[in-house]
Amino acid sequence: MTDIQELLLSRIRDVADYPEPGVMFKDITPLLADPAAFTALTDELAGIAASTGATKVVGLEARGFILGAPVAVRAGVGFIPVRKAGKLPGATLRQAYDLEYGSAEIEVHAEDLTHGDRVLIVDDVLATGGTAEAAIQLIHRAGAEVSGLAVLMELTFLAARPRLEPTLNGAPLKALLQV
Ligand code: PRP
Repeated sequence: MTDIQELLLSRIRDVADYPEPGVMFKDITPLLADPAAFTALTDELAGIAASTGATKVVGLEARGFILGAPVAVRAGVGFIPVRKAGKLPGATLRQAYDLEYGSAEIEVHAEDLTHGDRVLIVDDVLATGGTAEAAIQLIHRAGAEVSGLAVLMELTFLAARPRLEPTLNGAPLKALLQV
């Protein structure tokens, strides 16, 4: 493990039985509160934006906003929020995806992504991959390309990586930490 990975991991708090019994929640608020760790994380993700030739950063609500916005600024590209359905005021593209029980929908402003854009998706945690898969589908439907998917932490036991590989179509999935 690198020094940066050790720093990032040390600032993520495990919270047992949250939000429901049996779930180990990964709380990134200690990392956000530490300027050295938050800066290191931003620099790592901005490096991925640059190395994948991203022209835009998409952040996934809500923690993907916190991580993705400074990455976009650092990389010198625009930031586009992908929101839970019903929060964006303009014309949107909407994508449904399955949850363990039921389904959810996310949206993006249709005018924010166009043909020729190369989009880096940023989020905190990759769990089942359902949210990321829906975001990839939204980006493709907008006519844009996915330059990559970058997350702070991948929960490997939920097997999002094999699920996402066909949808990513060769674009890299970069996880700074795997647990
Ligand atoms: C969490 C996390 C990812 C998503 C990962 O967000 O921040 O966006 O779940 O899960 P998946 O890979 O199984 O789709 P959540 O839906 O809890 O939203 P929040 O950040 O608004 O709390």
